[in-house]
Amino acid sequence: MNARVTMDTDGKRVDLPVITGTEGERGLDVSRLREQTGMITLDPGYVNTGSCTSSITFLDGDRGILRYRGIPIEELANRSNFLETAFLLIYGQLPKEDEFRSFVEVITRHTMLHEDVKRFYDGFPKDAHPMAILSAVIGALSTFYQDSQDPTNPEHVEISIHRLIAKVPTIAAYSYKKSLGQPFVYPDNALEYCSNFLRMMFSIPAEPYSVNPTIAKALHLLFILHADHEQNCSTSTVRLVGSSHANLFASVAAGVYALWGPQHGGANQKVIEMLERIRADDGNVRKYVEMARDKNNPFRLFGFGHRVYKNYDPRALILKKACDEVLGTLGTQDPLVDIAKQIEEIALQDDFFLSKKLYPNVDFYSGIIYKAIGFPVNMFTVLFAMGRLPGWIAHWREMMADPKVKIGRPRQIYTGPTQREYVAIEAR
Ligand code: ACO
Repeated sequence: MNARVTMDTDGKRVDLPVITGTEGERGLDVSRLREQTGMITLDPGYVNTGSCTSSITFLDGDRGILRYRGIPIEELANRSNFLETAFLLIYGQLPKEDEFRSFVEVITRHTMLHEDVKRFYDGFPKDAHPMAILSAVIGALSTFYQDSQDPTNPEHVEISIHRLIAKVPTIAAYSYKKSLGQPFVYPDNALEYCSNFLRMMFSIPAEPYSVNPTIAKALHLLFILHADHEQNCSTSTVRLVGSSHANLFASVAAGVYALWGPQHGGANQKVIEMLERIRADDGNVRKYVEMARDKNNPFRLFGFGHRVYKNYDPRALILKKACDEVLGTLGTQDPLVDIAKQIEEIALQDDFFLSKKLYPNVDFYSGIIYKAIGFPVNMFTVLFAMGRLPGWIAHWREMMADPKVKIGRPRQIYTGPTQREYVAIEAR
């Protein structure tokens, strides 16, 4: 028999079913609570609230486990590439050889942007944040493909998925070129996904450019590690927007904005700014650890702590190793790496951080690698968005396929004034 939890309220007994996931996680199904009791649940930040069941990503924050469709992140990091991982997330299994070949081919064929899209860039200021450009241009794609946006039509959805995955690197690279005043570099479909992106970012028409394979490999790794993280802020945003049957471009554009915030994807930019600040302050790491410990000081160590991980973020462990390898191969000496390692060493022995279970998260080392590759700091969150795109798509697709899904519409407990009269302006 399925487990149930019994609740006594106003002299009435209510049985609430317990739902158990495949990894043994348990959740109380309150979907009929209001109907049965007149009450709702109140859970700011949704700390205890499951918004859906999902078979995409399993995350155990206490044990530091992350798996996409059952496959541990460590294995994907070692053996997969970004487009294969994207396929896995979106379609639920690793592609067979021919499936993968056609997936790569179709993505490669859609890398170009409509020429008119380029005109949008003329309107953006030179110093526009590339996250704003990314979201605006993804939203604008829906104006170019009006005949294929029905979220209930599998063919429309499929072509939109391909367009998004293919065009986002081009959109991102153009936003960087715009900030430099350099000409846009068209995609080169002879190159694989990450190499093509690197070329669009860093080549100029006046000089030859060859992709450094170490850098392309590092980018695949970073994108794989960022590709999904179950119901985080931006993914929940994509689901919520999509639940109104907004098209995929609109839903993903909203997800980009949600990711931008410094408490979410924007943290990778903040980490580097923090490390620069510490370096400019004579590398006084202890001072900043003390500031983070001080209850009266709002300062936080960026790249530390996570809503779900109360243990080492497994992605941070992989990136810490990759950081040494990439910087070693590129021959880059970055004093920020030493500062980051000192912070980690001090924080991991400090009672404050240990008692609050604050460990380095994925953003702690990703920024250092991006910086070594040559990405400007304001592109870091864009890179996160590029990596997270398959996750957003997978969740949007899963939600649309679920017959039980309703439009997302949380309730509230009203705490404002009770009914009162309108007072004319001269009498106020
Ligand atoms: N530095 C110092 N103290 C911290 C930090 C930190 N980085 N993170 C949390 N704390 C403290 C809080 O002050 C709070 O203390 P209190 O209990 O005395 O009030 C306690 O730890 C719990 O923190 P919350 O903010 O309540 O935890 P929550 O789960 O809501 O927040 C978050 C998680 C937002 C990631 C937080 O740890 C943070 O702000 N970290 C820095 C920003 C960052 O790195 N974000 C990237 C997250 S990873 C990602 O999005 C990919």
